[in-house]
Amino acid sequence: MGHPRVDAMLREAREAVAAARSSADLEQVRVRFLGRQGVLTQLLRSLGALAPEERPAAGAAANEAKRELEALLEGRLTAALEVERRARRAHERFDLTLPGRRPPRGALHPLTHVHDEIVAIFAGLGFSVVEGSEVETDYHNFEALNIPRDHPARDMQDTFYLSESTLLRTHTSPVQIRAMKAQRPPVRIIVPGKVYRRDVADMSHSPMFHQVEGLAVDRHITMGDLKGTLELFAREMFGPGSRIRFRPSFFPFTEPSAEVDVLCFVCRGGGCRLCKQGGWLEILGSGMVHPQVLKNVGYDPEEVTGWAFGMGIERIAMLKYGIDDLRLFFENDVRFLRQFA
Ligand code: DAH
Repeated sequence: MGHPRVDAMLREAREAVAAARSSADLEQVRVRFLGRQGVLTQLLRSLGALAPEERPAAGAAANEAKRELEALLEGRLTAALEVERRARRAHERFDLTLPGRRPPRGALHPLTHVHDEIVAIFAGLGFSVVEGSEVETDYHNFEALNIPRDHPARDMQDTFYLSESTLLRTHTSPVQIRAMKAQRPPVRIIVPGKVYRRDVADMSHSPMFHQVEGLAVDRHITMGDLKGTLELFAREMFGPGSRIRFRPSFFPFTEPSAEVDVLCFVCRGGGCRLCKQGGWLEILGSGMVHPQVLKNVGYDPEEVTGWAFGMGIERIAMLKYGIDDLRLFFENDVRFLRQFA
């Protein structure tokens, strides 16, 4: 059975537990009796001073008292915490009418906007999108396109060569060759993608930029089809009042070749800063696919004809949005990009 000092202490401890009103009170009781300097802890420590015959009974009683007190505190603490938690809940109010915190939202890059727009216009005309590889062979990038060995475009100054026969494509035109080799006419494709040139970046140059190639090959395809298609493109891209004009030009892979201008949509031809007083804005190169190019892919130029064009996505975007420095597209300054959200 008990031990007088232990019994007295235990009675005192039970009263203190019963009087406790909160988890904080209970913690105080625990420290008072079971803490390092607690009454019961000290009592246990003082057992050594007892006479040897008294020690076992006193020790057993003190340990029993400690277990009882611990269990009692534990039970009351659980109950007190639950009561306190409910009280807190009852006072909490969720204001469901408060506005939420908006997650930060990105926006499409202006080049993505223009790319998507170009693709949508030609998809609507029945063109399929084809993508080529940015690493090309010299053959597809130059040779098959009728660009001879000594052509300045093949110069080390313009082309990133990876080896003697492989390079980073300098235009999307090699995909014309790959697409025609892969299928029989009719062909109606557009080819968006990155192209590379050994240029130092400035307002109008970048070692990497984007082009879209267009190609249509079938029986009886004429330059009139090219004109009609590009007129429609210009009206969709730059507005219903848009006009275009063809200027004779030269590309090794087309004959005849033409550069295409759109009537300046700022001054309507009167002359302004955007068109450098000329009244027209150059938007692309084009022409009738050269018979030699058709032969190179195994097509019979007596049987089918075709037209092709190539335009720079950056150039179209700069004209459309009035952007005067090509580098802005690649710096990714959010203050610039946000304007196209
Ligand atoms: N490949 C030419 C360039 O990068 C653009 C071009 C001109 C593409 C005429 C064509 C074309 O398909 O017919 O400058």
